Amino acid sequence: MAKEKAVKEIEDLPGIGPTTAEKIKEAGYDTLDKLCSLAPHELSEISGMNADNAKKALDAAKQATTITYSTGSEVYGLRKAIGKITTGSKELNELLGGGVEARAITEAYGKFSSGKTQIGFQLSVNAQLPPEAGGLGGSVLFIDTEGTFRPERIEAIAKAADLDPEKTLDNIFVVRAEHTDQQMSTIERADKLIREKNIKLVVVDSLMALFRSEFIGRGALGERQQKLNMHIHKLQNIADAYGLAVYVTNQVMDNPAILFGDPTTPVGGNIMAHAATTRLYLRKSKEDKRIVRLVDSPNMPEGEAVIKITTSGIRD
Ligand code: GTP
Ligand code: MG
Repeated sequence: MAKEKAVKEIEDLPGIGPTTAEKIKEAGYDTLDKLCSLAPHELSEISGMNADNAKKALDAAKQATTITYSTGSEVYGLRKAIGKITTGSKELNELLGGGVEARAITEAYGKFSSGKTQIGFQLSVNAQLPPEAGGLGGSVLFIDTEGTFRPERIEAIAKAADLDPEKTLDNIFVVRAEHTDQQMSTIERADKLIREKNIKLVVVDSLMALFRSEFIGRGALGERQQKLNMHIHKLQNIADAYGLAVYVTNQVMDNPAILFGDPTTPVGGNIMAHAATTRLYLRKSKEDKRIVRLVDSPNMPEGEAVIKITTSGIRD
């Protein structure tokens, strides 16, 4: 009896000759793994094989391939290797489990003057530090939708961190976005800049302001949320693809449904709530003090930290 040939490529599958294999590859299924995602009727449509033969070929493809997995320990090893940006405050770092995490979206929401932008400035400086000093050793893409980027603040914060203020500013690429289209397309076209400039932090300050002012009224809400969803997905994609950190600020409103307790709620609805890996709620306290509450984190308990906004930046 002839020994069955080991299946390594699409051509090796039963009932698939070179011409059929070519058709399948042209449809974008050029590996056994990709082929396995098809249902028999789909393969039949693409290849012109009958449904029975398509099923046989797919069964053989599934036999020949294994799912790719990582063990829990491997995932743990990778997670430990994920970089973090120090916030400048030990207490806030501890609340965050070390700092603002790469490969994730961190959202800070709070009322005006609560410190959202100042934290963005501090992170823009600290991201440039080498990993052993609490940075990601890269540069920064800063999308400013409110016209509140202040180089003077970066200068002061960099000086306080013993960095060359001019170099620090040169490593921050500021895009002033005045419409959601600009905001979205900056992120959609960011790949080249990220690679060329070794961007390790993307700041969007604020994420929602333009969406809120452009899509007004109930009728526009669906479209707004749909666009917001796309925008956030792209942000998460680049965070994963380039191992960079994303820090976004968000505005708040008073939720009339909350009768007791603090009615302050971040805007952006469910889409925003699910998008952020970590959510921070900033509240003003006495003078330069701010209370930071960790509202949502996949691996850290809820809690609070007290920080100070100083001329040198964020401190304990
Ligand atoms: P909105 O963008 O208006 O919603 O607020 P925000 O949450 O972004 O506030 P931001 O981060 O801009 O914080 C503003 C606060 O930082 C104000 O209370 C300022 O007094 C304080 N601040 C800004 N610059 C300095 C500074 O150079 N020294 C000190 N000590 N405080 C500063
Ligand atoms: Mg601000």
